[in-house]
Amino acid sequence: MENNSNLNKSSGSADMQFIRSAFPSLRDDYVFFDNAGGSQTLGLVMDKITDYYMHSNVQLGGVYSVSKQARARVDEGNYHIAQTLNAEQTESVIVGSSTTALIRLFSIVIGQTLKEGDEIIITNCDHEANVSPWKDLQKQGIIIKTWTFNPSSYQLEIEDLEPLMTERTKYVAFCHTSNIFGSIHPVKAITEFVHSKGAKVFVDGVAYAPHRLIDVQDLDVDFYVYSLYKVFGPHLAVLYGKKQWLLDLPGINHNFIAPNDLPYKFQPGGQNYELSYSLSGISEYYQSVAVHHGLSETASIREKMQYAFEVFDQQEERLSKRLLDFLQSKPSVTIIGERDYAKEKRVCTIAFVVKGMHSSDINAQIHPHNIGIKTGDFYAKGIVKALQLENQGGVVRVSMAHYNSLDELEKLIKLLDKII
Ligand SMILES: Cc1ncc(COP(=O)(O)O)c(C=O)c1O
Repeated sequence: MENNSNLNKSSGSADMQFIRSAFPSLRDDYVFFDNAGGSQTLGLVMDKITDYYMHSNVQLGGVYSVSKQARARVDEGNYHIAQTLNAEQTESVIVGSSTTALIRLFSIVIGQTLKEGDEIIITNCDHEANVSPWKDLQKQGIIIKTWTFNPSSYQLEIEDLEPLMTERTKYVAFCHTSNIFGSIHPVKAITEFVHSKGAKVFVDGVAYAPHRLIDVQDLDVDFYVYSLYKVFGPHLAVLYGKKQWLLDLPGINHNFIAPNDLPYKFQPGGQNYELSYSLSGISEYYQSVAVHHGLSETASIREKMQYAFEVFDQQEERLSKRLLDFLQSKPSVTIIGERDYAKEKRVCTIAFVVKGMHSSDINAQIHPHNIGIKTGDFYAKGIVKALQLENQGGVVRVSMAHYNSLDELEKLIKLLDKII
């Protein structure tokens, strides 16, 4: 067992006992290595959902006390999720059912503002959630161009984007991190370049958000979206938009909802109350990790969040290094993604293929040992197609989170060592 409980951050280790005890499902002896598909959920989040049903399960907007309390709770969840993005204001944050649904919704309203012949650039390394909705705008005469990743670096390179941009380019839709490669794209630099050409960015941060703290103001992104059920929360997603763009876009709610009624104009039917309230549990967890590892109680929410992610990074880097070193020691293995474990370069979502082996045959020998990994294309169909991995059943993906221990990883490596 890892003997690193009650160590603070300055000694270089996350207190894994403290961290793991925040996730009730981790008490079972099961190894969750499919976190990029969906993370485990915080006990704080579960408790808040139950508490909402027990004490404030009414419609918002009433003048009676329980309705006011319900409103305050939903607002609290929205406030904390805006803090995790560092949004300028809470109204710039739209909570929806999933990233897929939010991008689809925004493609529809954005499509209403475009003219025939306008251009949108997508990539061949994004999840379909950030591909199909834009491609469907071709039906109304929008031109779609594809920015292809560099198959050597597994990166999106700005020099490959440049020749695609014209004065008709309105949006560039791309991912902060690919859910297969794990490599981190330089969103700030890409955004600066896209803005210099007069277009906007629409960033899918789903594979990035569980691993690093987002700062939409620093990145200067126009739109940014991610799924909360992959970030230790409930089955929801969140989309940030710059306020002016949200005010400019047509809404998709009832006709009588005012154009400045943010975020409601983009939330037909409203948002899920109990799950939205539970979002404050994610923020409380980050803050508790920071304080437990030595940061002052008086630090701001963002400072605490940043500190917590630094604690997570240490564990994640350790996990990435161990698995990448192991995979690189195997001549039959090709890592599909960034080979450097450094936290500036990648997150701990690691994909690979093994020469002469179907990816699902590898998994067949892993999952009976109570280890959940996954194989396939993970809806990043452009990657599997570009790398011609269809016949191999896509990639094997081991997607870890900060709460995974080195002991868990050793269990997987021991099995893989016999197979590959
Ligand atoms: C990178 C990426 N983008 C988008 C999605 C879609 O998210 P959701 O399930 O919230 O629609 C996923 C889901 O796996 C993903 O990995």
